[in-house]
Amino acid sequence: MTEFEPVLLRRVGKPDSQSLAGYRADGGYRALAKALGDLTPAQVTELVKDSGLRGRGGAGFPCGVKWTFLPKDHPGPIYLCVNADESEPGTFNNRILMEEDPHQVLEGILLACYATRASVAYVYVRYEYGRSFRVMQQAVDELYANNLLGRNILGKDFHAEVYLHRGAGAYICGEETGLIESLEGKRAWPRIKPPFPAVEGAFRKPTVVNNVETLACVTHIVDRGPDWFKSVGVPPDPKNPRDAGSYGPKLYCLSGHVNRPGCVELPLGVSVRELVEEHGGGVWKGRRAKGCIPGGLSMGFLTEQEFDTPLDFNGPGKAGCLGLGTAAVIVFDETTSIVDVLYNTCRFFAHESCGQCTPCREGTGWMMKITDRIRRGRGRLEDLHILDEIGRSIGIMPGTTICGLADGAGWPVKNAISKFRAEFEEFIRSGRKSPELELVGAH
Ligand SMILES: Cc1cc2nc3c(=O)[nH]c(=O)nc-3n(C[C@H](O)[C@H](O)[C@H](O)COP(=O)(O)O)c2cc1C
Ligand code: SF4
Repeated sequence: MTEFEPVLLRRVGKPDSQSLAGYRADGGYRALAKALGDLTPAQVTELVKDSGLRGRGGAGFPCGVKWTFLPKDHPGPIYLCVNADESEPGTFNNRILMEEDPHQVLEGILLACYATRASVAYVYVRYEYGRSFRVMQQAVDELYANNLLGRNILGKDFHAEVYLHRGAGAYICGEETGLIESLEGKRAWPRIKPPFPAVEGAFRKPTVVNNVETLACVTHIVDRGPDWFKSVGVPPDPKNPRDAGSYGPKLYCLSGHVNRPGCVELPLGVSVRELVEEHGGGVWKGRRAKGCIPGGLSMGFLTEQEFDTPLDFNGPGKAGCLGLGTAAVIVFDETTSIVDVLYNTCRFFAHESCGQCTPCREGTGWMMKITDRIRRGRGRLEDLHILDEIGRSIGIMPGTTICGLADGAGWPVKNAISKFRAEFEEFIRSGRKSPELELVGAH
């Protein structure tokens, strides 16, 4: 088992983990005091760049590099949008951070505001996360009462406001420009890019969008230094010139058919097998796994034979998945029908497509209808070809849509058909119906 002292989760479960006093007693806001006292905003950005921190929200973009895309000498305001929408199926690490250790997140937010010269941070909290919203609001109120928010923070020439914004209850609100539209009071329809948010974001002003876990990492990078961060995780793959390495601790969410579902913090690069066997207590009921979703539903599927895949920014891609995504692993056991798994997947994306782009709106709907037909025992073998073709033709990668939701909708379909083809063919040939259809409440 990997020996690792948690950093991001180290205060979870402590009796006083949410209060400012408790956080300060554990060394909290030390990094902020250090940054405001000893470092310029550019130096903080440099630290984050040097650490190799890549965004934890799904795309894995280098965080410090993103901050440098903001226009220099902009008169302001500059905004920080904190992406706490966390709607990717199987993902719940942002919730744990916000509910258990809100000041760790808020310190990262303040450091990011300082580095980017953002005067306002909007924390866009998933609608369903009522408790996260309340705990974060309480922490924000405490900061205002203690001169850690507002004007002249810690007596320095640094001013920042934090507003919490309750999300609009849709998966697409997590896409960064959908989030910005929603924050502005509109329907969360993603924007065509460019312009990217760094140039024209919230309220048409330069904006950085970062995930909650990314910002929590910033706190520790400033506190412990980039060398510490780089000592955790894995360096770039020399065979892949585009790999920027996978540094730092990562919160892995584990759910589905395992004995001990939960959120664990480990160095980037742990394998699915180690995660499931060592940290999840193995597959439930003494069964074998059939496969898993490696990083949120939109990343595709791994078969059990692929469980030695390392969960770093490079690993899942080598096994045919879209990427690491949110590193949320959902395991399904050998008795689970892949037909049902894929139908549920397609139903989710058809429901969540915002409908702006025809290939996504229609494609996700067709994929749902075809997989529904298959599970009702009326599938045809050529359906597999049609599904695969739709999966390949929708998304930013084939260049047919505005945002990545469609890539995420297509990937599980392509993966399922190529990796579990024999099971689909056998099911279609048999003419059976899915036993799930008999369950009370099944559609
Ligand atoms: C359909 C869709 C949904 C997304 N949902 C989330 C989300 O819930 N949370 C999140 O942080 N990023 C989400 N993202 C990624 C964001 O667009 C963006 O890349 C991320 O918030 C940037 O933060 P990071 O660089 O710190 O990872 C989503 C992207 C897409 C295409
Ligand atoms: S790809 Fe889909 S979700 Fe994204 S903007 Fe187009 S229709 Fe909306």
